[in-house]
Amino acid sequence: MSTTRPGLFVTFEGIDGSGKTTQLRLLAQRLGELGHEVVVSCEPGGTAIGKQIRKILLDANNQELAPTAELLLYFAARAQNVEELILPSLDAGKIVLVDRFTDSTLAYQAAGRGLGEEVVLQLDRIACRGLKPDVTFLIDIDVETSLARARARNEQTVGEEAGQTRMDEQTIEFHRRVAAAYERLAARDAERFRRIDGRTSVEEVAAQVWAAFSPLLEHVR
Ligand code: TMP
Repeated sequence: MSTTRPGLFVTFEGIDGSGKTTQLRLLAQRLGELGHEVVVSCEPGGTAIGKQIRKILLDANNQELAPTAELLLYFAARAQNVEELILPSLDAGKIVLVDRFTDSTLAYQAAGRGLGEEVVLQLDRIACRGLKPDVTFLIDIDVETSLARARARNEQTVGEEAGQTRMDEQTIEFHRRVAAAYERLAARDAERFRRIDGRTSVEEVAAQVWAAFSPLLEHVR
């Protein structure tokens, strides 16, 4: 784990419907209650510019979006987030919790779309300038549960992202490739990844996240 710079950079990853966003919010709330300075962000969409890029990426009408254009848009949103929010917050010694980061692109674009890792890692070097998460929580659930949850959420959502998004319309094989890629990433970088069983209740998952997170607080200056 990096201890050379102040702050703590934590990312949450998982397939759609894994519950990572709920868990990130619960962790942020708990840390806030303990008096820590916490910054929460998400990708794509953690900045005003990122939100505009997110609209293009998730609009179900944009079926003709080419895989390479999609890849570059995810990294455009990330570059803005790194520059505008993540690096300044880390420099100020804050705990930064981000919902998805480059591991998502490795899982969805490199593996899911079949674009390969090399191009993703090259863009990561440009957009993130060497910034890597200190810790990554991978919330594990099976693909069937994930898709059922994502569908239920779409039915409840109102507003801009109501209904199916462009990413929800992918085949089950696409989501299986994404899930398999997350497995490989976590196995390859076992020091950074914390795997959390996401199939239990929200409270139980939150307890697992806290048990894995709390020892890291000693690294926050
Ligand atoms: P979210 O629902 O977790 O906010 O993510 C939005 C969608 O974007 C989700 O289907 C995953 C996808 N995604 C990618 O395909 N590549 C990426 O790099 C990121 C950050 C998200």
